[in-house]
Amino acid sequence: MAFTYFFRDLQTLEMICDHALPTLRAKSHINIWDAGCAMGPEPYTLAILLSERIGHMYFRNVKIKATDIDGSNLFDTIIKDAIYPREQVERIPKDIFAKYFVKDEKEDHYRIIDEIRKAVSFRRHDLLTLNSIGNDFGLILCKNVLLHFNEAQRIEVIKMFYDSLIEGGYLAMEQTQKLPKDVEHLFDPVVSNAQLFKKRPIE
Ligand SMILES: C[S@@+](CC[C@H](N)C(=O)[O-])C[C@H]1O[C@@H](n2cnc3c(N)ncnc32)[C@H](O)[C@@H]1O
Repeated sequence: MAFTYFFRDLQTLEMICDHALPTLRAKSHINIWDAGCAMGPEPYTLAILLSERIGHMYFRNVKIKATDIDGSNLFDTIIKDAIYPREQVERIPKDIFAKYFVKDEKEDHYRIIDEIRKAVSFRRHDLLTLNSIGNDFGLILCKNVLLHFNEAQRIEVIKMFYDSLIEGGYLAMEQTQKLPKDVEHLFDPVVSNAQLFKKRPIE
């Protein structure tokens, strides 16, 4: 199921910008994994919000690796092209839309500007293989994906996320996705009104 849209659950994304970004931007690079990204609105929304907060000079150091099981085998092209039909972009705030989207040659389609597009790369990946795509992420965003898994699978995937984060890295999930008890000891909650967690040091 690939239901998604631009600026979905803005509250969680704003919490990331408010509470995780100040620590993350102290490093030379910000590496982000968006796990279960669907056809791109989520990683592109995050990229736009980060660019707004940190300015386009430092934004060059942001890399978002977006992954999805991509059952339809379509997301690679959609994400690389970053071209979306009018109905998918019309609810984006007007000022943001004017700044980050341009009209595409294809009628009623809009393309995300290159600066944002180049910050997001895509690869197919099945979270349930439990093979991570890296171990240097400052932030892992996994929203509206874990609800499709059973509790044992959720625990193993979250352990994989833990191993994929740098010391003090952040994990963000959707508002309704609580951390299973078995992995609570691995993270500290960052705020009370979003599922944003900070990796605890290995003891
Ligand atoms: C409801 S969409 C969520 C998209 C986006 N994260 C959001 O919140 O708007 C769920 C996504 O999870 C992906 N997914 C489901 N099982 C997966 C798996 N085992 N590994 C990777 N992605 C998976 C689906 O292909 C789908 O694109």
